[in-house]
Amino acid sequence: MTLPTVTTIAETRSAVAAVRGAGRSVALVPTMGALHDGHLALVARAREAADAVVTSVFVNPLQFGPAEDFDRYPRTLEADTAALERAGVDLLFAPSVADMYPEGRTRITVAAGPVGDLLEGRVRPGHFDGMLTVVAKLLHIVGPDVVLFGQKDAQQVFLVRRMVADLNVPVRVEVVPTVREPDGLARSSRNRYLSAEDRRRALALPSALAAAAAATDAGPERMLAAARAELEGREGVEPDYLVAVDPATFRPVDDRYRGPALVLVAARVGGTRLIDNELVSLG
Ligand code: PAJ
Repeated sequence: MTLPTVTTIAETRSAVAAVRGAGRSVALVPTMGALHDGHLALVARAREAADAVVTSVFVNPLQFGPAEDFDRYPRTLEADTAALERAGVDLLFAPSVADMYPEGRTRITVAAGPVGDLLEGRVRPGHFDGMLTVVAKLLHIVGPDVVLFGQKDAQQVFLVRRMVADLNVPVRVEVVPTVREPDGLARSSRNRYLSAEDRRRALALPSALAAAAAATDAGPERMLAAARAELEGREGVEPDYLVAVDPATFRPVDDRYRGPALVLVAARVGGTRLIDNELVSLG
């Protein structure tokens, strides 16, 4: 069966209404396309979590800064459609920018609040407002029972959960573990920007996280120093941040902190910004 693809909001609503009319529950997997195994892991989990799976493919201009890669972001709809069809998705929503923003930028946006200004938000001002705004729109358009996100984008997950809780959005949020290449690099649509040499250099990120995970007994500061040693002084790798945060608040932990901590890393490798994270337990 070929995968039904819709581009307008009206078509999407009526397709979802038909699914609901048949008494079936609905999962939504929002993506920006250029799909890889990480996205497909979300789809696989979505198939277990609901009767029907809707995937959206939309490169959202609102979450890209003026100097970022919106124009150059990979758009591979044909390959994405084939992959989603093989993965058993029931409906693909692939709107144009004009479908989603018929009057240009929305004048009302979701404000991510203080955590939206930290870490990724510090480097990418407005990114999380734009992300939450499109996720809110997608949730209103599709109205799923469950929506799935990847742990790879930990700050995104934190903020989506906050929005759903703070604004009483009637949806369940499910998070899927990060899918990695055999050598440990987290799968990302942006990995295709990396040259062969930069691809090797990018392993500094998972190495830093592994060093952190191996040094949790030493306490937060020494754990981060061990991780930093894997990242700093590597040719072609420009570290951006390496921090440990309390997963409940996303605030950096102090050296006395014990308990679960998210180690978050971002670095530029050959001009491409990469992020990764790992949950550790500081005992
Ligand atoms: P995108 O980068 O396409 O990612 C779509 C979803 O796939 C996100 O939930 C992301 O965390 C997840 N994902 C990406 N790489 C992954 C990996 N290696 N393992 C597991 N999951 C992974 O994130 C976005 O798009 C956008 O911000 C979006 C939520 C669609 C809003 O525009």
